[in-house]
Amino acid sequence: MKIDGIAYRTIWPAADGKAVEIIDQTRLPHVFSVVRLKTVAEAATAIADMWVRGAPLIGATAAYGLALAMDADSSDAGLAAAYDMLLKTRPTAVNLHWALADVRGVLTPLPASERSAAAWVRAAEIADADVATNRAIGEHGLSLLRDISATKGHPDRLNVLTHCNAGWLATVDWGTALAPIYLAHEAGLPIHVWVDETRPRNQGASLTAWELGRHGVPHTVIADNAGGHLMQHGLVDACIVGTDRTTATGDVCNKIGTYLKALAAFDNGVPFFVALPSPTIDWALADGVREIPIEQRAAAEQSHLSGLTADGRVEAVQVVPEGSPCANYAFDVTPARLVTALITERGVCAASRDGLASLFPERVIQ
Ligand code: MRU
Repeated sequence: MKIDGIAYRTIWPAADGKAVEIIDQTRLPHVFSVVRLKTVAEAATAIADMWVRGAPLIGATAAYGLALAMDADSSDAGLAAAYDMLLKTRPTAVNLHWALADVRGVLTPLPASERSAAAWVRAAEIADADVATNRAIGEHGLSLLRDISATKGHPDRLNVLTHCNAGWLATVDWGTALAPIYLAHEAGLPIHVWVDETRPRNQGASLTAWELGRHGVPHTVIADNAGGHLMQHGLVDACIVGTDRTTATGDVCNKIGTYLKALAAFDNGVPFFVALPSPTIDWALADGVREIPIEQRAAAEQSHLSGLTADGRVEAVQVVPEGSPCANYAFDVTPARLVTALITERGVCAASRDGLASLFPERVIQ
């Protein structure tokens, strides 16, 4: 996507071939800053501290992290240590496991002397595939939005609610949940996005609002608790969210608060779509609530808020009384029964084992 007319991805190999470069998402929307990652340890920090985030981008960064590791030590021990370091960074997004297993599978049979070059090639392939996948998700989601727009009877505005950031910043490009929205906007549909602020880290208010604004897509930031009210009053035509891990049965794990939006959508007859690339599906799992590990993050993310001061500094302030404990659950699981449909790169399907099997028959575990 473009920032001020310049096309960017969220991660790319540095021109000198000695590093990868990323956009530091912890500084957005106030500061646009590109950071060089030179070692696997720096790649691991970038994922754990959320300089990069979003399931597909976490996967791509891990793949490049292995490439950086192979530049330094391409032995079996070096590969195993880098794999373990990256795997520990974040527990919920399954794309991390998928990308690490994929690159390790390519490198393991090779002699150590060939691993570095092969890792860079494979990481670039993973990044390119993510872009193509998300574009395809966008096309399939656009068809759904066209149908809703044609039937809903408000020709002047199509209101879509989204949670967290599942836009291009969460992927290598295009985004998952936002890909249909960008294509709908480009196709001339009168789309308007309700952007959940997404406490505690405010990925909606900081990142989704920023990227929609840069692309000229009409949007309004709302408090996380406003969605139910908007749905009760007919002001949401559809919800589209991303996911960090989806079970083979269609349960969807996404940013904390997604489940409450799905409940409100169900109660109000609002379609609730989940957009996902297939590496986000954990084919081994059947019960998302019981089986998906939910990341718990530092209390400081809850107790403090960061923002722009009147004199232009970015500063964190404390919003919780000194001594009050905080519980910072980062994700929740929306059961498949609350999901209207899944939007994948291969098409739209029911959130169920049969629905996913109809699109990915080769992946079904008997
Ligand atoms: O903790 P984050 O910011 O990595 O969580 C991101 C989300 O929950 C996104 O909505 C999800 O990864 C889907 S991204 C395409």
